[in-house]
Amino acid sequence: MAKAKTYYFCQECGYQSSSWLGRCPECGKFGTFAEEVVKATPIQSLRHSATQTLSVPKRIQDVTYSETKRIPTHCGEFDRVLGGGIVPGSLLLLGGEPGIGKSTLLLQTALSIHDRKLLYVSGEESEQQIKMRADRLVPAGMPAVQELFVVSETVTQRIFEHIDAVQPDILVVDSIQTISTEDIDSPAGSVSQIRQCTTEFQHYAKTTGVPVLLIGHITKDGTLAGPKVMEHIVDAVLQFEGDRNYGYRILRALKNRFGSTAEIGIFEMQGNGLREVPNPSEFLLSQRDETLSGAAVAATLEGARPMFIEVQSLVSSAVYGTPQRNANGFDMRRLSMLLAVLEKRCGFKLGAKDVFLNIAGGLRVNDPAIDLAVACAILSSNVDIPISPRIAFAAELGLSGEVRPVARVEQRVAEADRLGFEKIFISKYNLRELDPKRYHLEIVSVSVIEEAFRALFA
Ligand code: TYD
Ligand code: MG
Repeated sequence: MAKAKTYYFCQECGYQSSSWLGRCPECGKFGTFAEEVVKATPIQSLRHSATQTLSVPKRIQDVTYSETKRIPTHCGEFDRVLGGGIVPGSLLLLGGEPGIGKSTLLLQTALSIHDRKLLYVSGEESEQQIKMRADRLVPAGMPAVQELFVVSETVTQRIFEHIDAVQPDILVVDSIQTISTEDIDSPAGSVSQIRQCTTEFQHYAKTTGVPVLLIGHITKDGTLAGPKVMEHIVDAVLQFEGDRNYGYRILRALKNRFGSTAEIGIFEMQGNGLREVPNPSEFLLSQRDETLSGAAVAATLEGARPMFIEVQSLVSSAVYGTPQRNANGFDMRRLSMLLAVLEKRCGFKLGAKDVFLNIAGGLRVNDPAIDLAVACAILSSNVDIPISPRIAFAAELGLSGEVRPVARVEQRVAEADRLGFEKIFISKYNLRELDPKRYHLEIVSVSVIEEAFRALFA
């Protein structure tokens, strides 16, 4: 019988201590320590360890490997984020807020990988619930041969018994927070349980070559410790995000040992599951009336993909003493900075105005190339002169009002051209990277924000 030991874990970052601490030395948060009872024999329970041969250090040139053949998921967007399919023996974490669509994504993927044997373990839903969801995802009925096994189970020891019985090619576990091991007394979802269960699945994946896809919940501010302590253990961390009020979902790789983290996958949540969106710009641009002021299109890049997004702004006289500033999908401090620049350089008394900013589609944009579109949308609303929906913007703004160059301008201009824009505003310093003769659209290069203002509204 293993000896039980009590440890204290920071529920924020997973830091382990033998005594209770008021402030975590790792992440600096206060009052985050919780007691967890851990039995000291976890290694015993690492199944499949008998199959592992003793490891010997080798010279690197003597290390041989067979070209690992990735397993295609038959979902273009998912494959793109993974770097071309699932790598055998890899451990993958799919994180996201509750209700964002993680179970839907993995069940849908499991259903489309019909040439492999899969085991879908759910600690959250019963087999009947999984079947009901699957029926919604495949309205026309399942393909005749479907080697997808589902089981509702929460204890790892039982899960490994099911694995022995089914011998799957791919394992899906929904969600790691509901799974527990009998070796640890603390409840499912606690730091020690999550760490131990993840390690067991990692061991299983590495020794058998069966890829394991784990689902993990994170809260709105990304604080739940679970996925944080797992990040070191797993081979890839994918994050599924989006605004629940909108249908768009973005799949992002935060870490990927087998591919790039620059790729994103875009989906739309529909009544019968997730639909892939190969051309995001085409639906992010709302069909807009040419006569409305306060909107401008930004040519942004999300990872390696161009995304054209509409920025909407409303500037009005402040009714109350303190003017309001509100931004949806854009950093508030950055907005304040842009307003200060506009006030100083363009001479607008924005200090006495309410300013509201909205990024269409419920997206959150971090690409600094959106700055110029934000500034121009605000100016357009302020002077009440519309900007043509066939003009795009791609530049960053500096503190003195200078229009700064952005990364990969060529890709943005080419995409604007492809989407049928007539003009694109970029920084003067980006111009030498471009050959204007290659595009149909007009490239307007500016060096300070006043120039853009004059070109648009003079
Ligand atoms: P779900 O995959 O259960 O989220 P998670 O596993 O991340 O908690 O999906 C949650 C939402 O998706 C749910 O509120 C309903 C919606 N949904 C659809 O709109 N269409 C569908 O076909 C399905 C299955 C779900
Ligand atoms: Mg779920």
